[in-house]
Amino acid sequence: MEYQNNANFAQLLDKKDPLRSSRNRFFIPKQKNGADCIYLCGNSLGLQPRSTRKYLEQELKDWECLGVEGHFEAKNPWMPYHEILTNKMAKIVGAKSKEVIVMNSLTVNLHLMMVSFYKPSKKRHKILIEGNAFPSDQYAVKSQIEFHGYDVADSLIELIPRKGETTMRTKDIIQLIENEGDSISLILIGGLNYYTGQAFDMKAITEVGHKKGCKVGFDLAHAVGNLPLKLHDWNVDFAVWCTYKYLNSGPGGVGGCFVHENHVNNKKLTRFAGWWGHDKETRFLMDDKFIPITTAEGWQLSNAPILSMASLNASLDLFEEAGIEALQRKARNLTGYLEYLILDIKSEFIEIITPTKLEERGSQLSIRVINSNKSLFKKITKNGVIADWREPDVIRIAPVPLYNSYSDVFQFVAILKESLINKL
Ligand SMILES: Cc1ncc(COP(=O)(O)O)c(C=O)c1O
Repeated sequence: MEYQNNANFAQLLDKKDPLRSSRNRFFIPKQKNGADCIYLCGNSLGLQPRSTRKYLEQELKDWECLGVEGHFEAKNPWMPYHEILTNKMAKIVGAKSKEVIVMNSLTVNLHLMMVSFYKPSKKRHKILIEGNAFPSDQYAVKSQIEFHGYDVADSLIELIPRKGETTMRTKDIIQLIENEGDSISLILIGGLNYYTGQAFDMKAITEVGHKKGCKVGFDLAHAVGNLPLKLHDWNVDFAVWCTYKYLNSGPGGVGGCFVHENHVNNKKLTRFAGWWGHDKETRFLMDDKFIPITTAEGWQLSNAPILSMASLNASLDLFEEAGIEALQRKARNLTGYLEYLILDIKSEFIEIITPTKLEERGSQLSIRVINSNKSLFKKITKNGVIADWREPDVIRIAPVPLYNSYSDVFQFVAILKESLINKL
C-alpha cells in the first residue's frame, strides 16, 4: 500500500477499513479531558469488549439461580464449558480441537508441558531458548533444568544476535540447531519476542529441531491472536499462551495450551495429573487410578474457572465475527503505516528494532530510544498515549486491528514527533 503522511489520508484509510466498526465493540479508556486515549498496548493487556459484561452476567445469573446445578443446567453448562472455547481457540492457533485446551495460566502450562516434553539425559540435556526471553520463561526453564539435577551453565543455550544486530537471523538459528542439536533436549522459543517484536520461523525451527531429535515448543504469549499460526501442520510438539493480550480476556485471564495430535494419547509421556484430566466417563467414580483423557484435555488439573472463560468467550466471538484473515490483513497495513510514519520523522534519537520483513513481525513495533532516555516515553504518556516501556531502552507500540484505527497511529506518531522536537 502507498502511504501518505497526513491526517486526511489516515481518516480515508479508516473509512475504507472493513473492520472499522469493531472498534465500537470495545471500551476505549478515556483521557482526563474526555477524549479517547491512544491505546497501543494490546500486546500487554487487551481492551474490554463491551459484550464481556453480558457473558459474565449470564454465568453469575446461572450461579445465582442454579447453584451447583449450573454444571449441567446452566445455559452454557459449566461441565463442558471449556469445549466452547476449544474449537474457537483451535482455529486461532491452527490446530485440531483435540490438540487444544484452555486452562491455568501461561507459566503453569509451560511447567506442565516441560514435565512431559523435557526429558534430559546425560547426552541430551540442554534447552535452547531465545536470548532475552521473557523472564518468566527463563525462570521456568532454569528451574526445570535444576529440578532434573543438571547445571544451568551447562544446560542452557541462548540464541544471541550477531554483534551489532538486535534480532536473530533464521539461518543462524538453523545453523545452531544443526551444530548443537544432538545435545539439545528441548527447543523453547517465544513465537514473537516480547522485547524486539521479532516473529520466528516456527515451521523451519520445528523442522530442523525434529531432524536433530529435539522436542520443540513455543511460548505464544505475543503471537496468539496476532500472527498466522499453523501449529498442527508445523508439527510443533507443544505450545502455551496467555489470553489477556491480543485475545482480550481480561487481567490474569485463563491460559491456553497445545499438544500435538502425535502426543495426546501417548501413555509413555510423564505428566503431572489432576482429576480434571481424568477420563470424563469415570471421573466421578472417584477411583484412585488416573486414566488420562486422550486429548489435550488430559493435561487439565483442576475444574475450569468459568468466569475467566466466559470473559475469554466474549472476545473469541469477536474474532470469529471479524475473521482471522481480515484481522491479519489489517494488522499488516496498520503496522506498515506506523513504520512508514515513524521513519518519516527521520530522528536520530529513535530506531525501530523490529524486523521490516512482514513474516518476521506482527502488530508490534519496538522503538529503541537512544541513551535509554525514558523522558520520551513519559512525554507521550502525558499526551494521551498508552504504550509501554521495557527496560532498558524500548517503547513498545502495538496497533491492534480489532480496535485501533489508522488515525490512532497517525495521532501517536504526531505526538511522538512533537515530543522529539521538544528535545529529549
Ligand atoms: C512472553 C511471555 N511469557 C510469559 C509470560 C508470563 O505469563 P503468565 O503471568 O500468564 O504466566 C508473559 C507475560 O506477559 C509473556 O509476555
